[in-house]
Amino acid sequence: MAVHLISHPVAQDLLTQLRDAQTPSPLFRQYAQRLSVLIATEAMRDLPTRPVVVDTPLGPADGARIASDVVVVPVLRAGLGMLDAVLSVVPHARVGHIGLQRDEATAVASQYYAKFPSGLDSSVVVLVDPMLATGGSAVASLQLLADRGARRTRLLCIVAAPEGIREVEAAFPDVQIYTPAIDHHLNAHKFIVPGLGDFGDRLYGTM
Ligand code: PRP
Ligand code: URA
Repeated sequence: MAVHLISHPVAQDLLTQLRDAQTPSPLFRQYAQRLSVLIATEAMRDLPTRPVVVDTPLGPADGARIASDVVVVPVLRAGLGMLDAVLSVVPHARVGHIGLQRDEATAVASQYYAKFPSGLDSSVVVLVDPMLATGGSAVASLQLLADRGARRTRLLCIVAAPEGIREVEAAFPDVQIYTPAIDHHLNAHKFIVPGLGDFGDRLYGTM
């Protein structure tokens, strides 16, 4: 499995502002959106294209259009903070949803919703979940997608913990992870340190 670290200075600047506990929800949403565009752009680097010719005002020009079907799957609820950004990069993508909630005491994720478009087996599937902590949510999501036939799945995160990366790698060695940060460790409550806190709460102001 490969972890693609998004080291672009603009990405790192946005990540730093997301980490800042003083950043209020309206700005947090904006920074998450802008950072997700950069992550998604990098994650789509290997999409196949087909050659096309278009007419510019001055004549024909050789070009390329994305040739692959793409399905974006945000993990509710925090993944919704990345969805519009990914769709701005691949507007033709279809969207599935997975609802997972970590138990506050055990950090074990339980599923409350799942809905997918058809044809996952022939699509590039882009799973978006900003926090990869224990990896429980990611592995559960990847298993749901694999059960529906998804074979080419990539995971887009905003912060990843080494524990979560190891968990995904052990269960799904072919999955590529795109993230601007691999943090130090998980604390006793399974929160990422230094991380940025609870992404969903900061996104929606539910602290
Ligand atoms: C957060 C986050 C991930 C999950 C990561 O969601 O958005 O889905 O925790 O943790 P894990 O790697 O240990 O599974 P949470 O369950 O808090 O729900 P929310 O998105 O509704 O806030
Ligand atoms: N979910 C979050 O939102 N933050 C963490 O640090 C871990 C899980």
